[in-house]
Amino acid sequence: MDTQYAWQPRYEVGLEEIDAQHRYLFSLIGELHEFSEAAVIDRSARDLLREIDRYAFYHFNSEEVLMSVYRYPHLDAQKREHFNLLQVLDKRICDFRQQGTTVRPLAEFLREWFLKHLADQDREMAQFISAARNNKRGVPKTSRFIH
Ligand SMILES: [Fe+2]
Repeated sequence: MDTQYAWQPRYEVGLEEIDAQHRYLFSLIGELHEFSEAAVIDRSARDLLREIDRYAFYHFNSEEVLMSVYRYPHLDAQKREHFNLLQVLDKRICDFRQQGTTVRPLAEFLREWFLKHLADQDREMAQFISAARNNKRGVPKTSRFIH
């Protein structure tokens, strides 16, 4: 596998459940990259893209639940950003399908897209939640459901 698509410890944000989801999502993007010469209309590549799209939706939703439970102050902005990211993802997948190009540029786009999401959004959110978990007095009672 191309090392660019190998999971790196520096991608971890320090929340076990979120890191596990990120690892899985990143592994799907790496799998897509392995299809480098296949057209997007190829059935297996298409199935993989559907899984990436579906899992990204699930992942963003998980993060929003977590942010909501811990009353993260930037929840609304994060939701908007997640929505935008999914729109961009859907549009790019659609463009690539219509153009019938190979998946390599799409895998590269997704890698950038994923790392940007991580760097721009998740680090700050993870720091906030880790701090809340370390300071139980600040944690609302409902948090016990996700520990
Ligand atoms: Fe994330």
